[in-house]
Amino acid sequence: ASGLAVAAKAAGLKYFGSATDNPELTDTTYVAQLSNTKDFGQITPGNSMKWDATEPTRGTFTFTQGDVVASLAQKNGQLLRGHNCVWYNQLPSWVTSGNFDNATLTSIIQNHCSTLVGHYKGQIWDVINEPFNDDGTWRTSVFYTTTGQSYVATALRAARAADPAAKLYINDYNIEGTGAKSTAMVNLVKSLKAQGVPIDGIGIQAHLIVGQVPSTLQANIQQFTALGVEVAITELDIRMTLPSTDALLAQQKKDYQTVVAACKAVSGCIGVTIWDYTDKYSWVPSTFSGQGAALPWDANLVKKPAYDGILAGF
Ligand code: XIL
Repeated sequence: ASGLAVAAKAAGLKYFGSATDNPELTDTTYVAQLSNTKDFGQITPGNSMKWDATEPTRGTFTFTQGDVVASLAQKNGQLLRGHNCVWYNQLPSWVTSGNFDNATLTSIIQNHCSTLVGHYKGQIWDVINEPFNDDGTWRTSVFYTTTGQSYVATALRAARAADPAAKLYINDYNIEGTGAKSTAMVNLVKSLKAQGVPIDGIGIQAHLIVGQVPSTLQANIQQFTALGVEVAITELDIRMTLPSTDALLAQQKKDYQTVVAACKAVSGCIGVTIWDYTDKYSWVPSTFSGQGAALPWDANLVKKPAYDGILAGF
């Protein structure tokens, strides 16, 4: 066994990586494993580049926490995915309650995205996060309510201007299989391309449930790359109802293998990121009541069967 990142590269992907978050970085055993570039060639900050963390008051940017994650990646020689510029969630109240008009909010978005992407140059960026509802309609947010769909192009253009070398993504969940939400993503990317708006990739979050990997995953990745953009699996975890059993862990291993193999099978699928690597720091138990054990390392930082499933998928 060579390591997850080594296996990903051998399979033709650009990287295999993990999310992390600042509070965990005091855990030296955790950091040592995260810094093992045989397993992880890429890092995503789970929280510290979000709007509430980076522009807590209008026009005042705080990069301290984000810089900690960026510096760790740089020190380790790992790629960084910036996450994220524009999302309906984890916004400071000055944005949600400011009652800005369209022109003002548009310039606020431009300033936020260009400052963020300009600070972390040469990276991959989730410029837009979670624009759609599950039925494929536009998600209500301060951005959509005030500017309509135009906030997407505004953010992407500002990001491109700030760093022409950055790869610009739109990222969402429940777009693993084909269906209304994936179709909405296809139509958005088509329309952006037709208008000459810069868009380089679609991020598929892939917060999945054991035994429920959509059978259309590979076909869906294919329909995304057929648009002329790259695809990344950006936030993979595969949760189960606790307690975990040998049977569930065995199914989870298969599910990780299936997801990784689907990415490998489509040439434009360039990377896979798990949403942290250990159950010790997973967001799942606090978000989905009674569920957990979603990651390839257990809470004691010991490899689970899922680890070998990922290797087998590559
Ligand atoms: C999550 C973080 O992991 C948590 O620590 C935080 O409390 C909430 O956000 N989709 C995303 C991520 O795009 O930003 C979310 O991250 C998980 C769902």
